[in-house]
Amino acid sequence: MAKTAEVSIPASERGCKLRCVACGTEFERAAQDFRCVNCGELLEVFYPAWEKGDPSHADELRTLWLERRKSLHALDQSGVWRFRELLPGMLDWNKVITLREGNTPIFELPRCAKSAGVRRLRAKHQGMNPTGSFKDTGMTAAISVAVEEKFRWVACASTGNTSASMAAYAAQAGLRSLVLIPEGKISWGKLSQALDYGALTCQLRTDFDGCLQLLREVIRRLPVYLLNSVNPYRLEGQKTAAIELLEQLGWSVPDHIVVPGGNLGNSSALGKALLEMQGLGLISRLPKVSVIQAAGANPLVRTIRENRGKSLVTVQPDTMATAIQIGNPASWRKALRVLDATGGTAEEVSEAEIALAKAEIGSDGVGCEPASAVTLAGLKKLVARKFVAPDESVVLILTGHVLKDPEYTLKFHRGELFTGTGYESEPKQFDGQRREPLILDPDPDAVVRALEAADA
Ligand code: F0G
Repeated sequence: MAKTAEVSIPASERGCKLRCVACGTEFERAAQDFRCVNCGELLEVFYPAWEKGDPSHADELRTLWLERRKSLHALDQSGVWRFRELLPGMLDWNKVITLREGNTPIFELPRCAKSAGVRRLRAKHQGMNPTGSFKDTGMTAAISVAVEEKFRWVACASTGNTSASMAAYAAQAGLRSLVLIPEGKISWGKLSQALDYGALTCQLRTDFDGCLQLLREVIRRLPVYLLNSVNPYRLEGQKTAAIELLEQLGWSVPDHIVVPGGNLGNSSALGKALLEMQGLGLISRLPKVSVIQAAGANPLVRTIRENRGKSLVTVQPDTMATAIQIGNPASWRKALRVLDATGGTAEEVSEAEIALAKAEIGSDGVGCEPASAVTLAGLKKLVARKFVAPDESVVLILTGHVLKDPEYTLKFHRGELFTGTGYESEPKQFDGQRREPLILDPDPDAVVRALEAADA
């Protein structure tokens, strides 16, 4: 493999440029680690042509995007590329790698609304993407750039979903993929996806932050395209979830959007889209974007509480919501900007609160993986804090499918979730949500008795 230090195609040829989020330096092309060569901070994509904000095209864009829903073209059938006016332009649109990501539904959560103390609650389920998580919306964009730049290998460190998504898109593109995951700290479902899609999968005896650190060293040595969310093209794809959400709501802006926080790429991406939509006159005000973390992996919450957002407080992460078991989030500055710009907040929730919220989302017939359930658990706290009023409109972003981590779900319903974990003992409220499977003789009377007992 030949060595290369830089990506080869100037970003300006895509109608966009890159800019450092800390020192503001602009770049035509990124270094391979996607960090500013002056100050080491992250880069973001920006579009000089509409940087100043131009509301004159809002109606035209809304109509165009809606029209594309009728199209049979692969690009239009993608819930990401349908919004391509707000995405980096490709040199050859026919080479975009898409699995028809996006197009995810909004569900009503009536029981969860009651439990959270709000009149109405909706969820946009990003777990309904092709590989079962929101990562697909970003991966289509960044993998397409990797193809355009003629990389043979792509790589990521992951808590599971990024690796599953990257492996799938790389396979579809005919690229090789390298996955670095923390050994014993990701769900089997996600690991199995990476294997099935053909990734070279390395389980490292460290945590996610350790994997990401190590990957930075690997990409210094080899021409491998980095696909963690420090890659700003991934966030461009991910931001389309917010555009699609607003379109689904008829461009009527909700009061609150509640997002789980891990490496903090997703909250950054959604916030970026909201600000861009406001600049383009697609929406007239901003929803408050709030980020929820597990109490055992709460660097953003602590950064705000203890340091007023000035410098990152890193933590040793510990949560059963393995997707967000991250103590040193790369995009903390970007996420803080989103909270500031939208007037949102950060909150933390316990393991028991996460488990209960997950079962409640299940009982609305929707379901999600543990990391996504922090949104409902967090919303309850935001209502208790009076940050969210009962009659305000709230949308939760559910990030992963319920089948991503069935082991967690089974343990919860069997009453074994906290067994041998060292977490607090299981609270009484679990009983009301637990739906343990019954083992019965193959006898109709036994089944009838079970039904009658359940109906009592
Ligand atoms: N929810 C799920 C299901 C996730 O997989 C992740 C992150 C998050 C929320 C947090 O999003 O990092 O953008 O703040 N998963 C990454 C991964 C880290 O490797 O799959 P974030």
